[in-house]
Amino acid sequence: MSQQYTSSYWQERKEDVAWLDEQSLNAAYNAVDKHLETGNGNKTALIYEAEDGTVKRFSFLALSQQSNKFANYLLSKGVKKGDRVFLFLPRIPELFIGFLGILKTGAIAGTMFSAFQKDALRDRLENSGATVVITAKELVDRIEQIKSELPELKHVLIVDDETFQADLELHPDNFSVCKTSPEDFAFMLYTSGTTGKPKGIVHAHYGCLQQHESAKLALDLKPNDIYWCTADPGWVTGIVYSILSNWSLGITTVVYGGRFDAEKWYEILEKHKVTVWYSAPTAIRMLMAKGTPLVKKYNLSSLRYLASVGEPLNPEAVIWGKEAFGKYFHDTWWQTETGSIMITNTPNLEVKPGSMGKPFPWVEAAILDDDGIPVPDEEEGNLCLKPFWPSLMRTVWQNKEKYESYFKNGWYFSGDRAKKDKDGYFWFVGRADDVIKTSGERVGPFEVESALVEHPSVVEAGVIGKPDEIRGEIIKAFVVLKPGVEGTEALKTELAEHVKKHLAGHAYPREVEFIDKLPKTRSGKIMRRILKAKELGQPIGDTSTLEEY
Ligand code: WTA
Repeated sequence: MSQQYTSSYWQERKEDVAWLDEQSLNAAYNAVDKHLETGNGNKTALIYEAEDGTVKRFSFLALSQQSNKFANYLLSKGVKKGDRVFLFLPRIPELFIGFLGILKTGAIAGTMFSAFQKDALRDRLENSGATVVITAKELVDRIEQIKSELPELKHVLIVDDETFQADLELHPDNFSVCKTSPEDFAFMLYTSGTTGKPKGIVHAHYGCLQQHESAKLALDLKPNDIYWCTADPGWVTGIVYSILSNWSLGITTVVYGGRFDAEKWYEILEKHKVTVWYSAPTAIRMLMAKGTPLVKKYNLSSLRYLASVGEPLNPEAVIWGKEAFGKYFHDTWWQTETGSIMITNTPNLEVKPGSMGKPFPWVEAAILDDDGIPVPDEEEGNLCLKPFWPSLMRTVWQNKEKYESYFKNGWYFSGDRAKKDKDGYFWFVGRADDVIKTSGERVGPFEVESALVEHPSVVEAGVIGKPDEIRGEIIKAFVVLKPGVEGTEALKTELAEHVKKHLAGHAYPREVEFIDKLPKTRSGKIMRRILKAKELGQPIGDTSTLEEY
């Protein structure tokens, strides 16, 4: 499909990424192998620090060779262009190397966050029809439990298994990268909406051009930077800004394999002399809660640029950043679907704390009403973007209708509500739907509700995002119990544990409230909006479609 790109910018910048020939572009070759041709093969690409403090360094040459081995291995298992190959790994080097290897074969790479449990994994693998899953000993049980339900899944590879490693070593470290066209699919990520199961957002190789430009401008990356993006490649930020764009720019990138810990994070910044740091509001607020004196114990003088993404960055966090690090966190706005940063505070733009900044020069953004008519400055409306752009999703996997639902009257509707001020800065207001952002991670209420109703004591459940000072939102579940079941504190804990075990370690309700009846429309849809208004003590609003409540 040939897209109508809105800006001539992309044609003019075409040569900023490395094409295999006139028609072929492969995002993995562009991220890694091209550096071997320009004499940068020995430059450090990845500084990997494990939770136990072990550090491993990989040059671009090493990443190239190891991903070549992976690609050869996958071909030997029958992987073909267009097949879906999924990674289910903790943040270890194999996640990065495997991702590159998959793209090199022309297959479509999918990632699944390591906190996912079997329901979340089954939904993704079933819908994508993945033929291979690459995992590790510590996670493989969860795949084994559902394997019999996945007829298309042929191979489960365990990267820390001795047999796999010995096999991998037998494969050559050179590889003829698949000559994918710019529009061929490169990777897919499942993401949550209000209703139904998560949807497979599919991206094409051409996205790497825009990802490259956006990282250069929004993150101010320069050749000698040491860059740390704290996101996990189970989510879009970790793929785009910790693999595809940063390495396309040839930047030395730090990855920390461990969990969040304030002291540990400052140690990483100090020890590796990080210069550019891309993180998320929840983490920043958690650091803020630990106070400024802790920051001052470390020598963080190397830091020169800070940025944030994923959820609203409140003005207090921006102001605290300036106090603690002497720099502002520059907010960036984008989505899994947009494939790269769209709105941001670029380095030369004056920061207005609390604002997301301005659209990139190549982005046409507008605040429109539900019919696609612009609303006046300072008024709230739908945050919309003019399609198409290279990093925009190409489709929703096996769900054309869903893909098409994003576009109306010639605009892409993001699902976010926002305002534009008279200076052209954009301000986030909230979601237009019920999607929850907890600690920066996108969770669909329907998935949590489905997990809850699988519990034998539950009749039905309604799930909302409840505002939280640190996490942005927490998940709160309103649960109707079966007759005769007593709503005890112990049962609340049990239900939270049940969701953790079946759906995902991060997507469980931190608050559970038992309720006699859920508010529903006459057609039986749970009205989460009403649950939320009641929770927040706000007016309930239009209830004309509500069944008696
Ligand atoms: C929210 C993450 C406020 C927003 C890259 C969006 C933000 C959703 C910001 C996408 C920001 C992202 N300020 N909200 N700077 N950045 N969001 O797909 O609601 O995980 O629609 O992509 O996160 O989340 P996703």
